[in-house]
Amino acid sequence: MADQPFLTDIKTLRERARQHIENGAVTEGYRADRETVIKLLNEALATEIVCTLRYRRHYFMASGINAESVAAEFLQHANEEQGHADQIAQRIVQLQGEPNFNPEGLLTRSHAEYVEGTTLIDMIKEDLVAERIAIDSYREMIHYLGSDDSTSRRMLEDILAVEEEHADDLVNMLQKMG
Ligand SMILES: [Fe+2]
Ligand SMILES: [Fe+2]
Repeated sequence: MADQPFLTDIKTLRERARQHIENGAVTEGYRADRETVIKLLNEALATEIVCTLRYRRHYFMASGINAESVAAEFLQHANEEQGHADQIAQRIVQLQGEPNFNPEGLLTRSHAEYVEGTTLIDMIKEDLVAERIAIDSYREMIHYLGSDDSTSRRMLEDILAVEEEHADDLVNMLQKMG
């Protein structure tokens, strides 16, 4: 419609904000399918938790075989995955959902797998596979959200950039080890 104004007038905005104030950050202008977004974010949360656990296991195992620089990298990644999990959980709550931290079904909800690996090279390769899975699934979620939930999308874009750094770190470690 040509005469449709681009911005909603102030009176309507104010009236709308007063309705359903219990919904907090979720206003009528929220255009995404909230239930679906919460479900997707819970899958991302499970992925981050599984990645945190896998990197922590790898950190302790690498420390045991005197691979200090690789171990330090694993620990840094573990802590960053934990930070991602926290960011995602917080966003789920903002969307009036509940973050799923239930250990039961965690691996089914997660996109990435939990592979322990026996050698240092195995561990790095498994972490790289998991990062590549995370990268693809975040890219799809970002595409799905489009402009319907720009806050979730921006958060996922920031996380995606870190996962790409992680994958790059791991490739460099593999190359150094021949
Ligand atoms: Fe992550
Ligand atoms: Fe990562």
